[in-house]
Amino acid sequence: MHYLMTKEEAKNKIEHLTEKINHYNHQYYQHSISDISDYEFDQLLKQLIKLEHEFPYLKRQDSPTLRVGGTITKEFDTIKHKYPMLSLDNTYSEEELKDFDNRVKKNIGNDFEYVCELKFDGVAISLNYEKGMLTKAVTRGDGIQGDDITANVKTIISIPLKSPPLTPSPPKSPQRGDFPTPLPKGKGDSKSDGKVPPLGRTMSSGHRASIAGGRGAGRGAVPSSFEVRGELFMSTKVFNKLNEEREEIGETLLANPRNTASGTLKMQDSSIVAKRKLDCFIYSLSGENLPYKTHEKSLEELPKWGFKVSDAWQKCKNINEVLEYIKKWETKRFDQPVGIDGIVIKINNFEQQRILGATAKSPRWAIAYKYKAESANTKLLSIDFQVGRTGAITPVANLQPVTLAGTVVKRASLHNANEIERLGIRISDTIYVEKGGEIIPKITGVDLSKRLPGIKKIEYIKKCPVCGTPLKRKEEEVIHYCPNESACPPQIKGRIEHFIQRKAMNIDGLGPETIEQLLEKDLIKDVADLYELKYEQLINLERFAEKSALNLIEGIQNSKIVDFENLLFALGIRFVGITVAEILAAHFNNIDALAQASYEQLIEVPEIGDKIAQSLVEYFKSKKKLQLIERLKKYGLKFALTPNLSAKSGEGVGAPLLLKGKTFVISGVFESFSREELKEKIKNNGGKVLSSISAKLDYLLAGNKMGPAKLQKAKNLGTNIISEKDFLYMIKKG
Ligand code: IVH
Repeated sequence: MHYLMTKEEAKNKIEHLTEKINHYNHQYYQHSISDISDYEFDQLLKQLIKLEHEFPYLKRQDSPTLRVGGTITKEFDTIKHKYPMLSLDNTYSEEELKDFDNRVKKNIGNDFEYVCELKFDGVAISLNYEKGMLTKAVTRGDGIQGDDITANVKTIISIPLKSPPLTPSPPKSPQRGDFPTPLPKGKGDSKSDGKVPPLGRTMSSGHRASIAGGRGAGRGAVPSSFEVRGELFMSTKVFNKLNEEREEIGETLLANPRNTASGTLKMQDSSIVAKRKLDCFIYSLSGENLPYKTHEKSLEELPKWGFKVSDAWQKCKNINEVLEYIKKWETKRFDQPVGIDGIVIKINNFEQQRILGATAKSPRWAIAYKYKAESANTKLLSIDFQVGRTGAITPVANLQPVTLAGTVVKRASLHNANEIERLGIRISDTIYVEKGGEIIPKITGVDLSKRLPGIKKIEYIKKCPVCGTPLKRKEEEVIHYCPNESACPPQIKGRIEHFIQRKAMNIDGLGPETIEQLLEKDLIKDVADLYELKYEQLINLERFAEKSALNLIEGIQNSKIVDFENLLFALGIRFVGITVAEILAAHFNNIDALAQASYEQLIEVPEIGDKIAQSLVEYFKSKKKLQLIERLKKYGLKFALTPNLSAKSGEGVGAPLLLKGKTFVISGVFESFSREELKEKIKNNGGKVLSSISAKLDYLLAGNKMGPAKLQKAKNLGTNIISEKDFLYMIKKG
């Protein structure tokens, strides 16, 4: 039964839901605790989205729905920092640290303590809170003024929009200090495929840990205005995943997590920032009338205000303890979610910090000890040129094996021809390999004094190392390509491997060796041939027996029911990853409409830019590609959306239509779909479209600019008013 909510009731409900969801988000993102199932969480969120839609003026500034972003910032405003954002003096030597210690003693005597923290390799941020609300998030800039990136920062879930967070339930185990290390997120996680669920929440199931600090209870008096500073970062895990996805779709790879985080923060569309899953460690609190006297105390209390503080910090009584801390973290730092390039050493007491003061550039009460990047010399033996699925060539250096930070390094990527040129390396050279704050080793230079006479410059290959076709280099791109798409073996193999992977056709029992055998024996030439494979052909392959042959045939047959979006991704169109495939499938519904779409129509689709549109147009221009699609259609693959069938699991074919018996009125203008398209979707899902609002109506699908009278009528009748987003959510398959 739907009844009409009064404004007062709606306000209370919105308040309650906001606090509850923020609390669960905080628990999850700061403490890795999931107190609620994904399903229940999504239900709460849905209720809030719906209420905020009905009562937009009641939406709170700290609403968790803000986390999805959507704000477009054309130009970032410049904002002056209240306190300048200084940088830190750096040292690589213990001697200089001892000098620092002596300078401090000279100024404030021997009665002081240090706090040591990790030096996170990210982007510094200043977060300003007024009356408990996050008002401004500003980059460091030149230290005096920075860019206002508030809309983007609001999408980062570990940054509270409201501080302190409201706490609807009491803490589980109110002890002080000692926070559990955040779980590696996404492990055993149903939504950990790199895509972000509506609010970027990826639950790791079942983890229960006690949290430190009484939430609410024992929280120091939070000043009405304060500023925290910290480091925004992209975790190595998220970065690697992002690069894997980019590699998969033939995009150039991102250089490192720090630059990626920094670039992400300057994006104009905050909803893309939301998907990038940035994170933030807070390392300082400033403001007038602060409730604490020491840095230690603020690090203990900040988590209770809702901030994420790395639990790696430690109080040290003297410089020897500091040196021990530095040693301890030298190798341990590689286990952290973010690159750690050093240690920050701070005087604990705020008053002593004040006495020590600062130079124009850096404070005298802190110093950074930087770890030398682990480096080794070794010999460059040869260079392999790998050919990827899209024909992209990647040069990889083969090195004389050398131990670096505890692991043996034999190979290092050279990325592209420019990098080889830049390094100026030659075969047989003694080169330097480094492992910095991140885990992947890189070649940083060459020892010219050891170069053997008569060794020539490396000439970049001109022909494909496998099929011999002359390579091409597209304008404005650094990568060389083998254009022999249809006959170059590693490209064919790569396409088949891409086609069968889990996110694509999900065909079990078909590993790289089997694909190799099938290609060698001429049993397949492309992905469509898979659907013609016979048991008799498979049983003769190496390592195949009756059961494995039958399983593979079954796996291939079962893949025919894979959803359109996964099939679209499986085709391996350049720049079409799974997320783009989902957007295209939802927009065009079937492959024919997509194939016929012009460049202009394609770039009209949200999130489809120039590069993707061009790539699609090029793909569908190819006769060979169209023939392949026709063949796949013939085998029964699903080249159209069938949202009423939950085919993903292979179960529920013929399952009840999602909107069966439900009635809709569509009104207004919509962002992603035309009204005709929405009608079609409702019908496809078993719903009915009506033309006028009545008491019997189930849903009013309301777009922009809909008439106020209609809206009022629906409200008076207590009709469910839903947005385009809500609707898409409703018809999303489970
Ligand atoms: S304290 C007065 N603590 O390192 C500067 N900085 O050059 C106080 N950083 O811009 C900074 N981890 O972005 C501090 N635990 C940490 C840090 C840290 C990383 C960065 C910060 C700053 C730079 C200093």
